[in-house]
Amino acid sequence: MSPGRILLTQAQIQARVRQLGRTLTKHYAGESPLFLGVMNGALFFLADLLRAVDLDSEISCVRLASYAGTKSTGKLRGLEAMGDSFKDRHVIIVDDILDTGHTLAGVIRRLRELGAADIKLCVLLQKKKAQLPVKVDWIGFKIPNEFVVGYGLDYNGRYRGLKQIRVLEQQTE
Ligand code: IMP
Ligand code: MG
Repeated sequence: MSPGRILLTQAQIQARVRQLGRTLTKHYAGESPLFLGVMNGALFFLADLLRAVDLDSEISCVRLASYAGTKSTGKLRGLEAMGDSFKDRHVIIVDDILDTGHTLAGVIRRLRELGAADIKLCVLLQKKKAQLPVKVDWIGFKIPNEFVVGYGLDYNGRYRGLKQIRVLEQQTE
């Protein structure tokens, strides 16, 4: 399997991230929200988004994994690592992609337990089929139900550094 067809170009991604930045800047005017990035996938999106907002914001990261290869395992790991103070905070969860939504549903539950005052979700990509257990507040792009890589998204740890978002395809030789 390797990166094939380009689904989103670098220019398309950057333009959309700037728009999202403006939207969040308006929404959180006068507040100090806490951006919680879900690592490692949200690394690039979080970094670009933070530079596109004009807010007195903070960043925190959580690391979880529910994927093995191209299949969601449904199991979450790493939530217990969230040691930061979320009490009474306005939190924006930032993630790369929403597929089944199980990962984010788990993060939201945990943030509620930790006393967050308000929790919003900002994801770069959402797969169209998604029958979601969570409500998404801001979405970059809706995409077909294909496995994609690049701009933070990986296939077994590879291809995160691609500047575009590409569809993972069988190699034909
Ligand atoms: P969910 O819990 O099924 O919504 O899975 C979400 C997580 O799985 C995302 O944060 C990604 O890390 C990973 N994931 C889901 N779909 C893809 C994909 O097409 N490419 C790469 N990673 C994906
Ligand atoms: Mg992820």
